[in-house]
Amino acid sequence: MRNTEQSRAAFAEAKEHMPGGVNSPVRSFANVGGNPPFIARAEGAKIYDIDGNEYIDYVGSWGPMVVGHAHPQVVKALQEAVTRGTSYGAPTLLETELAKLVQSVYPSIEVIRMVNSGTEATMSALRLARGYTGRDKIVKFIGCYHGHSDSLLVSAGSGLATFGVPSSPGVTKGTAADTIAVPYNDADAIRAVMEREGDTIAAVIVEPVAGNMGLVLPRQGYLSLLRDLTAKHGALLIFDEVMCGFRASLGGAQAAYGIRPDLTCLGKIIGGGLPVAAYGGRREIMERVSPSGPVYQAGTLSGNPLAMTAGIETLKILTAEPEEGKADYSRELTIKTKELLLGWQRAAKDSGVSICAHQAGSMFGIFFIDREVYDYTDAEAADQEAFRIWFDTMLDEGIYLAPSQFETLFLSGAHAAEDIERTIAAAEKGFAAVKKSRS
Ligand SMILES: Cc1ncc(COP(=O)(O)O)c(C=O)c1O
Repeated sequence: MRNTEQSRAAFAEAKEHMPGGVNSPVRSFANVGGNPPFIARAEGAKIYDIDGNEYIDYVGSWGPMVVGHAHPQVVKALQEAVTRGTSYGAPTLLETELAKLVQSVYPSIEVIRMVNSGTEATMSALRLARGYTGRDKIVKFIGCYHGHSDSLLVSAGSGLATFGVPSSPGVTKGTAADTIAVPYNDADAIRAVMEREGDTIAAVIVEPVAGNMGLVLPRQGYLSLLRDLTAKHGALLIFDEVMCGFRASLGGAQAAYGIRPDLTCLGKIIGGGLPVAAYGGRREIMERVSPSGPVYQAGTLSGNPLAMTAGIETLKILTAEPEEGKADYSRELTIKTKELLLGWQRAAKDSGVSICAHQAGSMFGIFFIDREVYDYTDAEAADQEAFRIWFDTMLDEGIYLAPSQFETLFLSGAHAAEDIERTIAAAEKGFAAVKKSRS
């Protein structure tokens, strides 16, 4: 059994000073009813808590740590950068370098604006879409998360699920009324909305590979339907690739599914673990952003030199030409992820526990359910108690997973074959514990 004494005390103290003891809700482990380990340090594929426990990490700071923690190349560049000053609030060469690196793999991003968080990226992209089209309404999909700005903290109304209601106190009814929430992967639902209101809609925003209701993949043809419908009605198509960018494939979901959105939001990986996100897309649209155009958006720390440095080094590693006879970095990640997931599927089957397993490049996840999961309603039907038992067993075995079935897991280049073997062995115990709890 792990010793968790110091983390427990730290959490109790933190709760005196911060809401729920954390600075972002999911970290509190509320979904699994536990006590979060407080992290002391991380290296490669491992994180270490203040009680001295070691874990193989599949959270990776919720996605950014694709090359592993404290990668020597990233650390060295940051150490050198910090001696040159930490922020200037003035242009640097680093910003153009990161912009070019991103654009080299995302040809749809002709012009890019760096911001500090995914929330800022999606919020700014929506303002731009509204400014560009002169329309107010937006469409989002139930179960997709795009950060915590007001327009996007909206869930479906009852019945037809096509009018928005605030999903948090503090979001006004007026704001929510401009957001239309539609079930993900439901072709008829989006067709009906676009036919009825398409000419008043500024943008359709979607996680093209959805990672915030667990990992849910788009049905065949669904993304191209969104592309066609938005083009037909003069609405912009915004791909929120904050999570799936550089993960679903190197070029994100847009490369994997061959769809060119009007605007793309990126985050997480492009900052290599420091706070960076971005939005960008067609030049004609992006030229409306201030100071080129009238749509205002700014940031004191946007394009911060340390954050740009971490992003540049991370992307350099990800996009490097592979050695002779080797697959490129992203491909290697996909292969390793598949191996891990196959191991879990085998273990679940051997234990007689039904799961639905999904993978998109180096993103992966499972639902405790005996059928396919296409949307939020399906995800909600998965067995939460089974997940909790499985999660607890994994944590005790030294495997650090996202503490909710409604999250996605991530692999990094630092995960070795041995880590994957250990993770599969732990999962066997986890599935056996689930089975036992049901008997
Ligand atoms: C798809 C997606 N968009 C936006 C965000 C918001 O990003 P941030 O937490 O950096 O504000 C997230 C966060 O997980 C996300 O997964």
